[in-house]
Amino acid sequence: MEKELLVYIDGKYYPKSQAKISVYDHGLLYGDGVFEGIRAYNGVVFKLREHIDRLYRSARVIMLEIPLTKEEMINAVLETLRKNNLHDAYIRLIVTRGVGDLGLDPRKCPKPTVIIITDVIKLHSKEAKERGIRALIVWVKRDPVDATSHEVKSLNYMNSILGKIEANVAGFDEAICLDKNGHISEGIAENIFIVKNGKIITPPTSTGALVGITRDVIMKLAEKLGYKAVEANITPTDLFTADEAFFTGTAAEVVPIVEVNKRKIGDGKPGPITKRLMQEFEKIVRDPKEGTPIY
Ligand SMILES: Cc1ncc(COP(=O)(O)O)c(C=O)c1O
Repeated sequence: MEKELLVYIDGKYYPKSQAKISVYDHGLLYGDGVFEGIRAYNGVVFKLREHIDRLYRSARVIMLEIPLTKEEMINAVLETLRKNNLHDAYIRLIVTRGVGDLGLDPRKCPKPTVIIITDVIKLHSKEAKERGIRALIVWVKRDPVDATSHEVKSLNYMNSILGKIEANVAGFDEAICLDKNGHISEGIAENIFIVKNGKIITPPTSTGALVGITRDVIMKLAEKLGYKAVEANITPTDLFTADEAFFTGTAAEVVPIVEVNKRKIGDGKPGPITKRLMQEFEKIVRDPKEGTPIY
């Protein structure tokens, strides 16, 4: 029998089938907690420090005191990967408010729960990435910045899940969310970019979008390749009339969008700038200088 993956919970390791937390944990009862999705490529955890920094920033916003220092957290992530002998992996790092009573008051939760899962994730097939995906702008608006904004990577993903359900029932591959002013915000777990007249544009985080780490990598990469990359509001019309469009995210990586609400983007095929960025991104994630070695 294949050996089960080990999951870290509060400093101890449990086989996947026995990795369990209390039903009184407020992460389950109220979605009260923060998380990160991180990838390791070829023995190096891509942008690990950046993900850890964002986790602690998210925790600060929700006033959650993480019981480990950043260095201890980095070591726990690396140790979990080592225990599972993984070189390529998807890492899910979660800190919940912890066990409390059935009321929602966080003061009743004395100890946060820290969970590290190291496994694999596959969102889009190789073929889908080559062909590009079809997206739907959905009715549900991105949570605004003065509500449960996605600038904070919290465990509350109902906003995204409603978007995904809408795309699923309508037969599309992915959902695109608007902010309450009607501007494009992001996908359900991806940032979005358009390419127009050689310029690369992504919405500002004031639309409630996450400050994506892949988004940042792509902005810098685009500049390095000689393109102009800017943050600016994007309307649905801007998107429909873009030359190219793509999503970025740790799990999704870079994915071309070739159709939005049945309108072809450009010629309906992944565009040349998107393809170039995908190729270069593949190289960056495997560059040991861009991350933290596991072994
Ligand atoms: C809502 C949301 N937007 C964007 C992203 C992409 O962010 P990153 O590139 O840091 O993974 C994610 C990824 O988890 C997300 O959940």
